[in-house]
Amino acid sequence: MTENTIQTVKIKRVINECDGVKSFVFDRENSIIPQPGQFVMIWAPGVDEVPMSISSYNEKGEWSITVKNVGECTNALHELTIGDYIGVRGPLGNFFQIPQDKNKKIFLIGGGIGMVPLRFLASELVKLGHKFTIIEGAKVENDLIFMDEFLDLNREGAEFNYCTDDGSYGEKGFTTEIFENALKDMRYDEFKNTIIYKCKYEIMMHKLLQICDEHEIEMHASLERIMRCGCGLCGLCTLDPIGLLVCKDGPIFSSELLKKMDDFGKFKREFSGKKISQ
Ligand SMILES: Cc1cc2nc3c(=O)[nH]c(=O)nc-3n(C[C@H](O)[C@H](O)[C@H](O)COP(=O)(O)OP(=O)(O)OC[C@H]3O[C@@H](n4cnc5c(N)ncnc54)[C@H](O)[C@@H]3O)c2cc1C
Ligand code: FES
Repeated sequence: MTENTIQTVKIKRVINECDGVKSFVFDRENSIIPQPGQFVMIWAPGVDEVPMSISSYNEKGEWSITVKNVGECTNALHELTIGDYIGVRGPLGNFFQIPQDKNKKIFLIGGGIGMVPLRFLASELVKLGHKFTIIEGAKVENDLIFMDEFLDLNREGAEFNYCTDDGSYGEKGFTTEIFENALKDMRYDEFKNTIIYKCKYEIMMHKLLQICDEHEIEMHASLERIMRCGCGLCGLCTLDPIGLLVCKDGPIFSSELLKKMDDFGKFKREFSGKKISQ
């Protein structure tokens, strides 16, 4: 089986993560092993096929995706239950590069549904013996996801900072502000030994890139664009002006590449291909 073959799988478990967000667990046979940061195209029978990050993978061969209900296809997925079938194509795209050096200072920074690829990355970092800090943000407390699982990772030495826009949980403010505060406690020579993994939202990523640039910190971000084919054929996910494709060259891009993109933090494309402001 290649990564582009669609495979029908049976849903094994459904987990309510928070209001409007569910995880779906399934087994896959003879599949390529996924890496943190990669995504799959998920087909809701009779409705549509949409891109979803892989939220977990374990030794038993169980995969999961975590879906926020925002429209027709995600709503159809939310209607499914244990024993129902979905189509899965992937793993697709590139993945987070994990440093060999265990002394690297690692931050995973995300908001809301952006925690999905970071959850898979966090479990992999624990497996490889890395220490790291997660900064998770949300509008309100009820939108924070994976907190129980992160508590388990906390026991393995990972650190956590939560923030909400309204201060209903953790600090009041944005993830970028929490990160800027963390930088105040670091020495200049530690910046070069720091690596940031960031998912959602692109305007916040843009701000974070500026902060990282000022401090010469390496950053890797997971971008999202409307996708049709997910495998480099339709061109809908092109990033101007260098023509990188989010589905094939991404979804993970380094600071060096992000700085060369005019579209980053500013423009995205509609299903028609028309470019609009973010
Ligand atoms: C690489 C990648 C990974 C993603 N991972 C996740 C994930 O782990 N969990 C999750 O809930 N969502 C994820 N998304 C977003 C998800 O694909 C969209 O929310 C979904 O396609 C919406 O489909 P819909 O038919 O329900 O909504 P629609 O009615 O089609 O649209 C609702 C909203 O979602 C936006 N949208 C629609 N299609 C896409 C798309 N293909 N890519 C990005 N935005 C879109 C639209 O602009 C609109 O604002 C990811 C997207 C990409 C590109
Ligand atoms: S989604 Fe078709 S080229 Fe990327």
